[in-house]
Amino acid sequence: MPENKVNTLITDSPLEAAKVLLRGGLVIFPTETVYGIGASAFDHKACRRIYEVKNRPSDNPLILHVGNLGALKSCAVVNSSGELVFQKFSPGAITGIFPKKDSNLFTADLKTVAVRIPSNPTAISFLDFCNVPVAAPSANLSGKPSLTKMEYILEEFNGKVDCILKGEEPQIGIESTVIDFTSNPPILLRPGFVDVQDLKEILPELRVWKSTEKKSEILAETPISPGLKYRHYAPVCKVILTENLEDVPKTAAQIGFRFYKDVVYQIRVTSNEEYMKFLYSFFVECDRRGIEEAFCEIPKEERGKEALLNRITKAASK
Ligand code: TXA
Ligand code: MG
Repeated sequence: MPENKVNTLITDSPLEAAKVLLRGGLVIFPTETVYGIGASAFDHKACRRIYEVKNRPSDNPLILHVGNLGALKSCAVVNSSGELVFQKFSPGAITGIFPKKDSNLFTADLKTVAVRIPSNPTAISFLDFCNVPVAAPSANLSGKPSLTKMEYILEEFNGKVDCILKGEEPQIGIESTVIDFTSNPPILLRPGFVDVQDLKEILPELRVWKSTEKKSEILAETPISPGLKYRHYAPVCKVILTENLEDVPKTAAQIGFRFYKDVVYQIRVTSNEEYMKFLYSFFVECDRRGIEEAFCEIPKEERGKEALLNRITKAASK
């Protein structure tokens, strides 16, 4: 069913955006990873509206965003592994799954809660003014690439949400690393900018969940992220992961480290970090230009490879 058009306040004031959220509204705000579409986690009606606007399956829970570790601990029961990881990598692109502490929080009927503390300055100021946990999935239509530019947000969501907060654009470009701390040992469910190598330095026992692994192959009681079963990050065009870009047809688009000939659209990156930053805008641009095939070069053997492969292979798995 098409959403009724709403009057969207477009502002660069975190205070104005917080007022809209506290009145029950939906607010799109920037984080350092991707844009989020948020509601007060205490307002279940507003949280349910996020699912309508995104066309999100109702069993896929939302991440709560808070301003500091104290606020995180009032939502979640944080164990020592969680404390260690959050002390080291937060604020930043890391999400922890913990037992839920406050039963009034919206968590799509789960006993656990996913929480993170963003580092984007606009997000921090917005969360400070909100002073409640903000439940926010990535701001994109379900199944599509997450959005990393205000231009795309306005195109997709103006008239569908109550407020769009402008601020520093996402610098990382892909979603946060998700770790389930309710399992022993903790399990990495979604790779991200905070790399498994760095996590293992402080959490050597960390297990990495592979989408090919069955739940029972890790731990029978492991609550695998509901979101992992859905197709994700996919543009309309066909995504192809390739070892070299030599045979790319001229009518296709490509993202990678080297180029051999002219194609209709290309993005050249010099590191995996840059690759992450541009991957989703590359996908969005391919669709905007009506390109049918998008070739992605295999990422470099360096930090970020896992996260990039995760996003590209999901986008390619139609
Ligand atoms: O960087 C990010 O994490 C962005 C920004 C906006 O913060 N958010 C984001 O949210 O990517 P979303 O909803 O697109 O992805 C959240 C993932 C989903 O796969 C969801 O299933 C999982 O986290 N998740 C949330 N709560 C969970 C829980 N209690 N147990 C297991 N998985 C959970
Ligand atoms: Mg998402």
